[in-house]
Amino acid sequence: MTRRVTKAIFPVAGMGTRFLPATKSVPKEIMTLVDRPLIQYAIDEARAAGIKEFIFVTSRGKGALEDYFDHAPQLEQLLRQKGKTDLLNTLESTNMESGAIAYIRQHKALGLGHAVWCARRLIGDEPFAVILPDDVIAGEKPCLQQMVEAYEETGGNMVAAMEVPAEKTSSYGMLDIEADMGAMVRTKGMVEKPKAEDAPSNLAVIGRYILSPSVLENLNNIEQGAGGEIQLTDAIAAEIKNGNGVYGYRFQGQRFDCGSKSGFLQATVAFGLARDDLREDLFAYLHDVVNMGKAAE
Ligand code: UTP
Repeated sequence: MTRRVTKAIFPVAGMGTRFLPATKSVPKEIMTLVDRPLIQYAIDEARAAGIKEFIFVTSRGKGALEDYFDHAPQLEQLLRQKGKTDLLNTLESTNMESGAIAYIRQHKALGLGHAVWCARRLIGDEPFAVILPDDVIAGEKPCLQQMVEAYEETGGNMVAAMEVPAEKTSSYGMLDIEADMGAMVRTKGMVEKPKAEDAPSNLAVIGRYILSPSVLENLNNIEQGAGGEIQLTDAIAAEIKNGNGVYGYRFQGQRFDCGSKSGFLQATVAFGLARDDLREDLFAYLHDVVNMGKAAE
């Protein structure tokens, strides 16, 4: 029987250089889609998947993230006095049970693999999830929940997988497929950011993982790889070499790369259109913009 996944690591120590100058003082994960910061989407997804312990790997300048999960007694009292129960309720999702959240520092930005490794003592000997908050996934059933359900059948390690066009393979870890079972693939290798001609398939890994604690041991032995960083992909690929299963899971849902400007803007439009209170206005605006563009052609 597989062990339940109750811990999740949120690596948020990156510098977010693609959003400079904003990220000079605002952590990328606090940037908002409509009215909720990216980190809130990630936390909601983790909760839906049964996660009970939330481990943030942070760095200098990420204080706003820690504050976000604190109680705000003055603000809450003001809202209560004014009878603004709707707003009070929206604050509730930001509250964390005492002791459920932990912050660990990554002292040097040595890559995603290193960030995950920094949390090793808090993980111990349990399977754990990794969520990259800049990958926001809209779907009926939250992506990590889909993966946890699939993982209960497979055990081993599981990564969220998505088909990408050939010209994009150099932006992702790509899966080498051994067996394709439809929603799930069993992999025989992983390659970090290959050129299109070197990519073993068109299935890319995106920012959701369920990993066995042996990945943390593998990270002890991983040298700096592509881009001078310690790559999580290499530590997962080492699992395959060690004879442990690594599965790719084709999740249901739409993924937005909110680490890029274009992806962030697309997510803003999509989440805006999904909101009853905004849809009509936003749709009318977009309609006008598109028509103006057409007229200009
Ligand atoms: P990115 O590759 O998107 O890097 O990291 P970044 O620094 O966040 O953004 P850019 O490319 O400079 O704009 C993917 C995820 O890994 C985390 C990031 O916080 C992000 O969630 N990460 C990356 C770390 O925690 N530590 C690192 O050393 C590198």
